[in-house]
Amino acid sequence: MASRTSTSPPAFLEPHAKATSLTVLRRHAKSCERCDLYKNATQTVFGEGPFEAKVILVGEQPGDQEDVAGRPFVGPAGRLLDESMTAAGIDRSQCYVTNAVKHFKFERRGKRRLHMRPAAGEIQRCAWWLGAELDILRANLIVALGATALYSLMGRAVSLTNERGRVLQTANGMPLLVTIHPSYLLRIRDPDDRDRERRRFVADLRIISSHLNLQNIPAPHTV
Ligand code: URA
Repeated sequence: MASRTSTSPPAFLEPHAKATSLTVLRRHAKSCERCDLYKNATQTVFGEGPFEAKVILVGEQPGDQEDVAGRPFVGPAGRLLDESMTAAGIDRSQCYVTNAVKHFKFERRGKRRLHMRPAAGEIQRCAWWLGAELDILRANLIVALGATALYSLMGRAVSLTNERGRVLQTANGMPLLVTIHPSYLLRIRDPDDRDRERRRFVADLRIISSHLNLQNIPAPHTV
């Protein structure tokens, strides 16, 4: 993975300075051509949430509905994320929500636009934006939703299956909770399996509160 060029704002940034920096970053991201994904997508979907957020949730890339709306996690996976966060006692509006890749990658099948996984090179190119968001926000906990976010945040391939539910450290030393992407739940056909997996996801998300309350903090795990 390419090294991240950091905007490196001072760690003690006040919320208004964070707001200014994020606003500038978002404006620049609108015209991003760091990889080819901008060519077919409707628009850049940048992160959103309060500047003073303690938690940053990182997904894979915007989906069909997010691409049109210009906002992260507003489609079916977003609704499932919202429900699961509520079940875990976490208010999404207090969190900053973003993606590892800021443009929708898809293939056309007739009128439909089918999601395609971003390639390693696309994730690496886009890691510059994610790194800049993390630098500005300085949250207490990052949450990797799925393998793409995990890859981007760790800067290398790490097993989601092995590390799920653990708090690791990102390449630049920030606590990183590892869990699945909510769209994994949408693909499970069997209702019992889906229910069980959804309960596991909610249990993973509960770690956010315990981490923030400085209770039962799992020691950062080295892989
Ligand atoms: N899936 C993601 O990873 N991000 C979104 O914003 C929507 C769906």
